[in-house]
Amino acid sequence: MTTTSNEGAAAGATHLPVMLDEAVQGLRVRENGTYLDGTFGRGGHARAVLAQLGAAGKLLLMDRDPAAVAHARAEFGGDARVAIRHGNFADLAQWDATAQGLDGVLFDLGVSSPQLDEAQRGFSFRADAPLDMRMDTSSGISAAQFLADADEDAIAGVLWRYGEERMGRRIARAIGERRREAPIARTLELAELVERTLGRREGNKHPATRTFQALRMHVNGELDAVERGLRAAVERLNSGGRLVVISFHSLEDRAVKNFLRDESRQPPTRRGLPPPPPMALRLKTLGAAQLPGEKELSANPRARSAVLRVAEKL
Ligand SMILES: C[S@@+](CC[C@H](N)C(=O)[O-])C[C@H]1O[C@@H](n2cnc3c(N)ncnc32)[C@H](O)[C@@H]1O
Repeated sequence: MTTTSNEGAAAGATHLPVMLDEAVQGLRVRENGTYLDGTFGRGGHARAVLAQLGAAGKLLLMDRDPAAVAHARAEFGGDARVAIRHGNFADLAQWDATAQGLDGVLFDLGVSSPQLDEAQRGFSFRADAPLDMRMDTSSGISAAQFLADADEDAIAGVLWRYGEERMGRRIARAIGERRREAPIARTLELAELVERTLGRREGNKHPATRTFQALRMHVNGELDAVERGLRAAVERLNSGGRLVVISFHSLEDRAVKNFLRDESRQPPTRRGLPPPPPMALRLKTLGAAQLPGEKELSANPRARSAVLRVAEKL
């Protein structure tokens, strides 16, 4: 879930699964099938899939966050139908357990409520904490490290690409000036610096919203992971297997939409050019993009930007 407005602890330490019924229906769980949930989080979707599996079914669980994996092990470690792996879903095809083929793959993208709500993770601009933002706290570089090492052009590029922050250059310059005195190590330091630099509020939206979102997407390589994860999922899906993706950010959804289009439709013929050679299509899309209903939106405001897409392997 890519909720960028950091609603704070409103949703508590648990995670309300988004579009649960739609996702489980999209997977069309068969009793004896093998399914992969690449974004375990706190297991809302996984639990519902497991409830539909019989004794011969299998559920493979992944998450790049060690805390999520610890939860998966504590809850499902004793279930013989479940296998658990700490890692990026982009690498799912390297997991031996996927080699027999999968009947369904679910990606519920972005960050979980516990990640947002636990101040120490550094995702929120509302609480003072080390500026970390890594989902996988065991590898990679933190947002603070990126801001310390990258040149101002690179910082501005990230703010524009992943946050569509039009003032990215100005913010990057302010970061450059500040870090000549001392590194920017804490969330509130960055939030205040952006607020001072932009000098305005946009309704209820904190001026640092786009900056935090952009840094998070960069530090975690989120778009790259989605693109690689989709390719790996299609490689591993059995014929008739389902791919279900829930995205929360327009850039993510665009990546998913484009991928599904390219895998399910012949490339267009351009006027004046010879027709392109036919492609071997691997997917068919099932229905249009789905959005959460009113009832879910009122119960869980974090569902508000969700878009769910389903496709089937040919
Ligand atoms: C929106 S939450 C998933 C919530 C889950 N469906 C539930 O109902 O509890 C997203 C989770 O995916 C994980 N995640 C995000 N990108 C990932 C990736 N590329 N590989 C593995 N896990 C990822 C995050 O660490 C987070 O725990």
